[in-house]
Amino acid sequence: MNTTFQLETRNLSHRFAANEEILSQINLQVPNASIYGFLGPNGAGKTTTLKLILGLIAKQQGEIFIGGKSFNAHRIELLHQIGSLIETPSLYSQLTAYENLAVWQKIYQCPKKRIDEVLALVRLSDTGKKKAGQFSLGMKQRLSIAIALLHNPRILILDEPTNGLDPNGILEMRELLKQLNQEKQLTILISSHLLAEIEKLVTHIGIINKGNLLFQGTLHELLQKQEQTAHVVLATTNNQHAATLIDPKWILPTSDEKKLLLREMPHEEIAAINKKLVQNGIDVYEIHSEKTDLETIFMNLTGN
Ligand SMILES: Nc1ncnc2c1ncn2[C@@H]1O[C@H](COP(=O)(O)OP(=O)(O)OP(=O)(O)O)[C@@H](O)[C@H]1O
Ligand SMILES: [Mg+2]
Repeated sequence: MNTTFQLETRNLSHRFAANEEILSQINLQVPNASIYGFLGPNGAGKTTTLKLILGLIAKQQGEIFIGGKSFNAHRIELLHQIGSLIETPSLYSQLTAYENLAVWQKIYQCPKKRIDEVLALVRLSDTGKKKAGQFSLGMKQRLSIAIALLHNPRILILDEPTNGLDPNGILEMRELLKQLNQEKQLTILISSHLLAEIEKLVTHIGIINKGNLLFQGTLHELLQKQEQTAHVVLATTNNQHAATLIDPKWILPTSDEKKLLLREMPHEEIAAINKKLVQNGIDVYEIHSEKTDLETIFMNLTGN
């Protein structure tokens, strides 16, 4: 058994109705101390997957492992290792941040000093007598994360925690999660439907669409996929003639009359092509290297 994964699902499948598979054979592999972005458009199956992992929906097919241990056999023990925030946080609006945490501290039976610790972690120490009902959405999200951290879990599972937050709130959330990951070696599994929102945060990415995991790997591997889409754009006064002067091995079939698209090539090669075209009486008015942005790769993968 591979214990390098802090969290793993094997062939996790799910149906709400007999004729419709919502998840098919999902194999999530979340490495220890990683920040894993679970990405997919609306309705892809993100929340369903996370709820299955947390046992909030009864599992039908497949297996879930935490730290290499099967959920089936060690359910309670393993749930203690997870903190989570799924959908809207449910807080006591008439209680302060401290009082909200005190309720959960009694339930979890953890030391009282944990309350101040987690309040400091999510930067809510100075909210004093202010009631949770008067908090901004960003503060409510942070208080919910404080509750999720109270019992000192090793994994934090967050379902779209930045939903509804303004750019500043998103930034604060990102900083908080980075800090928790770096200082506490907390493994974080975070879902989102926006790549741009988590791209700066995550170390690993899983892309799900219509219940299928389309990509899984490090952010670096996704960026390499992006490198593979890099090409050189060339526009001249006579592209047709230009095409006959360039070695065909460089020319991509996606070229059109307006622009010639060439394979990514060394700088010297670009310069040589440029020189040759000019020497043959063709004016070059555009030549540059271009990459498909990550968002487009995501869109292509998810077919949107
Ligand atoms: N309780 C349920 N009963 C029936 N179908 C459901 C139920 N919950 C979710 N679904 C369906 O399962 C599919 C996946 O939903 P899920 O909520 O997991 O997607 P999601 O990726 O979290 O989407 P979003 O980004 O909108 O939150 C959707 O087609 C949804 O309609
Ligand atoms: Mg969802």
